Amino acid sequence: MFDSGVGGLSVWREIVQQLPQCDTVYVADQAHVPYGSRAVEQVRGFAESISRFLLCEGAQVIVVACNTASAAALQHLRACMPATPFVGMEPAVKPAAENTRTGVVGVIATPATFQGELFASLLERFASDVTVLTQICPGLVEAVEANKLDTPATKTSLRECLAPLLAAGIDQLVLGCTHYPFLRPAIAEIAGPAVQIIDPAPAVARQTGRVLRQNNPRIAGQQTGQHTFYTSGAPGPFAARVQQLTGLQERVQAVRWEGKRLVRCTRR
Ligand code: DGL
Repeated sequence: MFDSGVGGLSVWREIVQQLPQCDTVYVADQAHVPYGSRAVEQVRGFAESISRFLLCEGAQVIVVACNTASAAALQHLRACMPATPFVGMEPAVKPAAENTRTGVVGVIATPATFQGELFASLLERFASDVTVLTQICPGLVEAVEANKLDTPATKTSLRECLAPLLAAGIDQLVLGCTHYPFLRPAIAEIAGPAVQIIDPAPAVARQTGRVLRQNNPRIAGQQTGQHTFYTSGAPGPFAARVQQLTGLQERVQAVRWEGKRLVRCTRR
């Protein structure tokens, strides 16, 4: 699995809960976080190199636990590594459109997630008869990376970003960035009980289980639930964040970028 930082841990925790015997390798590309304001081509390049690294680590299925990287790179990854099954993220427009009573749905995500074909095709396929309002939330990814989940500044940013959506009468709010589920308590407090918050992580974990079983029915039973974490940033602080966000005390190993290649810094 990979993400620009800690956000993908919101998907990781669901996968580990649903598939407790599954071994995981998680790469946080914190040297480049945030991805959301970067050029699509650049994010695509990071995603390809990290996927190649994960294949060398023995990955049987790669979960792109990042909406931004999925929007930028999923098609490309499937085309250039056709033997590898990829599971990606996409904003959960479909269930939101099905559930809405007001006919107004809000989606919060990074700028890069809203660009491109993936989001346009979701709107076209699932939301032709509802209003979908999109909203970027500057600073929120950085706030989650810095463990500022509940600070006054984070709540002010959240209030500003949710205000136009709430004023327009949304009753469904799609979390279109894997960092945002960690802000769910603060989001729920601001949005109020009339707004249903949709986090796609449980559905992505179910899909990961299906893909694992389809590709190798023996995989899920054979493994032992070993978890390996890498970051291209600082391993100590990332280990502390893993513990805060998942309760797990794991050693984190360092990886570094050598040109366009991601390599391990130390031997295991
Ligand atoms: N967690 C990521 C996402 O789902 C990346 C956010 C970022 O790095 O900007 O979009």
